[in-house]
Amino acid sequence: MDMIKTTIDGREIEVQRDRWALEVAREMGIEIPTLCHHSALEPYGACRLCVVEVTKGKWTWLTTSCDLPIREGLTIRTDTPAVIAARKTALELMLAQAPDAEEVRQLAEQLGTKSPRFPDRNESNACILCGLCVRVCKVVTGKMAICFSNRGTDRKVGPPFDRSSDECIGCNACVDICPTGCIESRDEAGIRKIPMLKTELKLADCEVCGKPFAPIRQLEHMQAKLREKFGDDFEAGCICPVCRREQTAARLHNVAEKIG
Ligand code: FES
Repeated sequence: MDMIKTTIDGREIEVQRDRWALEVAREMGIEIPTLCHHSALEPYGACRLCVVEVTKGKWTWLTTSCDLPIREGLTIRTDTPAVIAARKTALELMLAQAPDAEEVRQLAEQLGTKSPRFPDRNESNACILCGLCVRVCKVVTGKMAICFSNRGTDRKVGPPFDRSSDECIGCNACVDICPTGCIESRDEAGIRKIPMLKTELKLADCEVCGKPFAPIRQLEHMQAKLREKFGDDFEAGCICPVCRREQTAARLHNVAEKIG
């Protein structure tokens, strides 16, 4: 393992070369705000809240820490006046972009950024264009049922070509990962609806209790993935999580009775 020395907020540590500065700083107990970071996904550097000040030799610059690989000789500061000012500006931009995002408003209040100098771009939106939904969709489906479109102030997230996409399996990964909760999903009358993606998918009925629980397309996708890995004989069954838990509990109970 290639270990190197670096200094973060005055504390020298030895770390593996090329680890992300954000992760190392957090392990040291240093708080750095983020909105577009998820440890399971590749960094993207969109929200710019994780900005830090880096010095190497006679050069000092500001950069995002989520996608900063630690190299020999870097000195990193996470709390300088320039860092705080850059975070405030990033928050002002986000507030203008997504005035309805509660998380952004709370962070802005904590950092003392209340009213944006920049004009509102979208009066009724909480999307901060962090790209987490786009990245997680690629990981889960291997495709892009949700993507960025347009440029500049018109940039937005939605289905490709603004039309309902066959790639969407209705798994709700984008809904669950969204830091501002701006992607809505609801199950109504046996249909999963995700309005932002123009998705409407029929839910499969649990073969035990008969209640609809997951989109048929999502189950087919998962079955195909599992068969790829474990072979054609793999059969997961169409059972909702509640019934599956009950079946497992009953099985364990039977085993315990036999042993006991
Ligand atoms: S967490 Fe680094 S830019 Fe958003």
